[in-house]
Order: sequence, then C-alpha cells, then structure tokens
Amino acid sequence: MIGAGAMGHGIAHTLLRHGYAVKFFDASPKALESAKARIARGLERDVEKGRLAKDEEEKALARLTLASHLESFSESDFMIEAITENFEVKAGVFGALDKICGDSAIFASNTSSISISRLAATTRRASRFVGLHFFNPVPVMKLVEVVAGLVTSQQTVEAAVALAQSLDKTPVCVQDFPGFVSNRVLMPMINEAVFCVMEGVAEPQAVDEVMKLGMNHPMGPLELADFIGLDVCRDIMRVLYDGFHDSKYRPCPLLEKMVSAGRLGRKSGRGFYDYSSPPVLS
Ligand code: 3HC
Repeated sequence: MIGAGAMGHGIAHTLLRHGYAVKFFDASPKALESAKARIARGLERDVEKGRLAKDEEEKALARLTLASHLESFSESDFMIEAITENFEVKAGVFGALDKICGDSAIFASNTSSISISRLAATTRRASRFVGLHFFNPVPVMKLVEVVAGLVTSQQTVEAAVALAQSLDKTPVCVQDFPGFVSNRVLMPMINEAVFCVMEGVAEPQAVDEVMKLGMNHPMGPLELADFIGLDVCRDIMRVLYDGFHDSKYRPCPLLEKMVSAGRLGRKSGRGFYDYSSPPVLS
C-alpha cells in the first residue's frame, strides 16, 4: 500500500481486518506513523462493534509493516497506490515500482479520475494495471469501482474483483473514461449544487436539505463536497471538462473561488460549512 492519506489508511485498515499482510509506505514517515495510529484505533473500534474478534486485533496490527523505501516492495504481489492526484507524481512512483517489483505483480491505482490507460502506459506491465477506486470512508463504503484500462487483461480485472470481494466490498467493473462512472455522475451534481448557491437559488443548508430529505442522500451535495475536499471536486471537474471538451462540465466559478481562497472543506476547517472550533465568524 502506497500513500497514507485518508484513502490509503482506510484501504490498509480494511485489508488488515480481512486477514491480509500489508506493507505500507508514504514519502512522509510522520504521515505513516499517524496512519498506523488511526488504523490501530479503527481496529479497536471493529472489536467494540463486533466486526473483529478481540484476539484478531493484535494479529491484524502485527500483519502491518511500515516500509521506509520503495525497494521493500520487491516481493509484493499486489500494489495499491493512493497518493496525491497528480499524474507526474503517480507516474514517478509507478515507474520506480515497475523496476523493483516482480513481473507478475499487479499494479492498482485508487485514482479518482486520472486515466488508468495513461498511467499504465508509463509502466512495462500495462496489461497488469487496473483502477481500484475505493470510497471514503473506506471501511464503511461497500463500493469498489474496478476500472479496466485499454489493455488491462481480463485476468487482472478478475484478480481486482476477487480482492474487492474478499474485503466484503461490491466490485463494479467499468471502462476507463474520464471520471469513470462514479465521479462522472457525482461531481456534476455537486458542481450544480454550487451553482445553486452562487446564483442565490438557496443557501447551502437548504440545498443539502433538499437532497437529503427529497432524495434520501445520507449527506447533501455541499456537505459531501466539504467531506471529499473542494480542491478534489474542482480537480475532478477539470478532468471531466478537459476529457470531454463539453461545457456542461465547467467547474462552477464559486467552486474555483473557494479553492483559491483556501476554503477546502473539512480538512481546512472551512468550506460550505465551518468546522473550526470555536467557529470563525464571517
Ligand atoms: N472515517 C471512518 N469512519 C467513519 C467516518 C470517517 N470519516 N465517518 C463515519 N464513519 C463511520 C462511523 O465510525 C460509523 O462506524 P461504526 O460502525 O464504527 O460506528 C459509521 O461510519 C456510520 O457513521 P455514523 O453512524 O456516525 O454516521 P452516519 O450514519 O451518518 O454515516 C457516513 C456516516 C457513512 C459518512 C454517511 O454520512 C455517508 O454515507 N455519507 C456519504 C459518503 C459518500 O458519499 N462517500 C463517497 C465520497 S466520493 C469518494 O470517496 C470518491 C472520490 O473519488 C471522490
């Protein structure tokens, strides 16, 4: 597992809970340590909730190894990457791993919108490269979107499906097009909700209430945008816009403005809602 952010530690936690041995790397040793602490808390919670037997908790944590360099992955058979959503950074990591890992190792990216075919083409194992798109919070959400690149082999897709099923997730196979299915449908909805706020159709709370009470969504689109990160939402809209050249995918100017102002949602303490304590007035 490469990348110790919210998705990475959630994926590692889920793998450990289901009996896998996980080698975990992040360029920041501090991020890796704090991810390990969060995983430990998550496993403790699993025991409290009866999802894991008490004697399994310690064993699960013992199956986690923190790696200090990529060379540690020479024996690994399935690599999952969940690092920053930047093509060059991901390509750099996959390029390095391609030289380190054995020929039969499968590479999977948790990217939310970068082309799997393009990432695969930076390695010499494009047929063994697949998208494995988890959803936040990973231990809770049932879906894994399995994304087949242009030359991903059927065998690789089947291995990804089997892995997702062994984690008690429901894999859904899709082809590699911008935003896949999940973000191609979700992000324009969020973007449209931001347009509603920008145009004064309704306040954020009202927009969210409409979708929660009228459509039974667990979170309203703006609450969800804050949860995902407004920068992530904006970046995915740009991928859709650049990929399809269709104006319906243009990021809402208010979304752009909020990202420029550093209002990124929960992670920055402020987005459409205020998460700071005490709350910031304005
Ligand atoms: N991290 C880990 N676990 C979390 C969590 C978080 N941020 N937030 C909630 N949970 C856990 C809780 O601990 C609880 O688990 P428990 O069984 O141990 O008690 C469980 O989720 C349910 O939480 P609550 O009862 O407190 O709250 P809710 O019933 O309101 O559920 C929610 C919380 C699951 C987050 C729900 O609001 C929800 O489903 N929201 C929508 C989430 C969503 O759409 N995610 C997808 C985002 S898009 C994405 O990830 C793709 C990317 O490409 C952008």
